[in-house]
Amino acid sequence: MFSLLKYMKKMPAFSLPWRRRLENPNQMESAATPFYAMWDAVARLAHEIRGSDFMAEMIRRRDAYGSEGVMGALDCATLYGLTRWLRPVVVMESGGFIGMSSAFILKAFADENLTAAKLYSIESSDECEQGALIPDELRSASGGFISMHGKVEDFLKRDQLPGSIDMFLHDSSHSYRHMLWEFRQFWPRLRDGGLLVSHDVQMNAAFPEFIARTYAHDKRTGRRDAGRTSHYEWGRWGYIGFAIKKTD
Ligand SMILES: C[S@@+](CC[C@H](N)C(=O)[O-])C[C@H]1O[C@@H](n2cnc3c(N)ncnc32)[C@H](O)[C@@H]1O
Repeated sequence: MFSLLKYMKKMPAFSLPWRRRLENPNQMESAATPFYAMWDAVARLAHEIRGSDFMAEMIRRRDAYGSEGVMGALDCATLYGLTRWLRPVVVMESGGFIGMSSAFILKAFADENLTAAKLYSIESSDECEQGALIPDELRSASGGFISMHGKVEDFLKRDQLPGSIDMFLHDSSHSYRHMLWEFRQFWPRLRDGGLLVSHDVQMNAAFPEFIARTYAHDKRTGRRDAGRTSHYEWGRWGYIGFAIKKTD
């Protein structure tokens, strides 16, 4: 069993994207629209991985193993772009399965040189070889892949998950109830500027409904009241949805 406290103590502090703007060339943004440039940055990073040898190798592995139930290439590229853009330290994913999504998160860690970053990957099935698709060099490079066997519900009940995370990826059960439940469970654990990412948002109304509830509106104009709205930005590309959490 991994020691969560040991990992958490070693982790460097997460810094907010706009505070890191000058340090990180992926995040050149203007003060008036602080998140507008993220679209360009994520698109560029996703495009980069789409045409890479890594993508070709992952597709070869996936097809050799059987592609049923794993994340598709477009969504993997978006996930990679979002992860590189954020440069997270603590990432959690539900539904790790054979590790297609995990591999792209770990690849983003490697390409951003995030040597202390951790991916906690939860999978409940006894039948799958969790993380089997992840290339060895990514799995062992920094010990960044932490596989957790069991149901998300049970890990939460036993309080075995980090209380504060930079990025959460939902890719477990895609029922309306379960997706909404996971969003509600993990949203409060996200730091200011952290990312909620969901796969298969097209499957039901959970993601748009969750996002709708993060809005507050100005009574007079009927437009978003940015001060009281609890996201900075959100979007959907392919079957990936994401929202950037705002706490203050
Ligand atoms: C769509 S697959 C995940 C695909 C994976 N992210 C990939 O890209 O390779 C969904 C997985 O979620 C797992 N799962 C379903 N409900 C779960 C739960 N409550 N807790 C943990 N894992 C769950 C299933 O066993 C299944 O392997």
